[in-house]
Amino acid sequence: MANLNILEAPFVLEMMETTNNMYRLGWDERNGGNISYLLDEALVANYLDLSNVLREIPIPFDGLELAGKIFIVTGSGEYFKNVINNPERCLGIIRISETGKSVELLWGFSTGGVPTSELPSHLMSHISRLSVDPENRVVMHCHASHLLAMTFTHPLDERAFTRTMWQMCTECLVVFPEGVGIIPWLVPGTTEIGQATSNKMKENRLVLWPHHGVYGAGKDLDEAFGLIETAEKAAQIFTYVRAQGEILQTITDEQLAALGEAFKVTPREGYLEV
Ligand code: 13P
Ligand code: ZN
Repeated sequence: MANLNILEAPFVLEMMETTNNMYRLGWDERNGGNISYLLDEALVANYLDLSNVLREIPIPFDGLELAGKIFIVTGSGEYFKNVINNPERCLGIIRISETGKSVELLWGFSTGGVPTSELPSHLMSHISRLSVDPENRVVMHCHASHLLAMTFTHPLDERAFTRTMWQMCTECLVVFPEGVGIIPWLVPGTTEIGQATSNKMKENRLVLWPHHGVYGAGKDLDEAFGLIETAEKAAQIFTYVRAQGEILQTITDEQLAALGEAFKVTPREGYLEV
């Protein structure tokens, strides 16, 4: 029975809180960044009449593999700053149509808005993540400042970049033992960047977009947020370390290997020299 208030739904409140945190951290200037969160149909049915489609919105790629799935997503052009005060305008609940060629708006985008322009990268990344982890529900994109800056000053080699991240904070290897994926610079919002991102998402939950931002994935908003937060912290430390000058010591590969053993995670094959 769809009799509960959608503005009190936990997934709407979580989206409001998370976008607000991301904005406050400086990761999402203006409309920068976007989130998609796969919802449980039975849960949504407590709040919305699922037979009431408000609008049908075409999508420029094939979403057939996700047909029938329901997501809450941020709106294209909407400011993260404003989600907390105007969720009904800035957020939308969409269902992928039976043909996979459009989405059905069930709630939100109240001033005529549409889902994020990065929907190709989001939905294709959901497909990739679900193929290796059925628990995955969230894909998050933002313009985390220090990570973005590092894509100018650090080689864009995945192994080298990952090793630097692991060396910056002891917790990094534990949080993302599989490392960081990096795609080439590509035009945002395209199916091409969606393909490149989702290919990396089969083996990584963190994917860097050079000179643009980062994608993170996880089983809930906290996990995706925490992943980006940890990588961004490492990039911030990298920035300080570079600014302070000569590096006198770092975490050794032997220490990183010991860390992996202690926390029962497997560092990506070939990334440590031990
Ligand atoms: P949207 O406003 O369409 O979500 O785009 C923002 C963005 O970060 C593009 O990469
Ligand atoms: Zn972006």
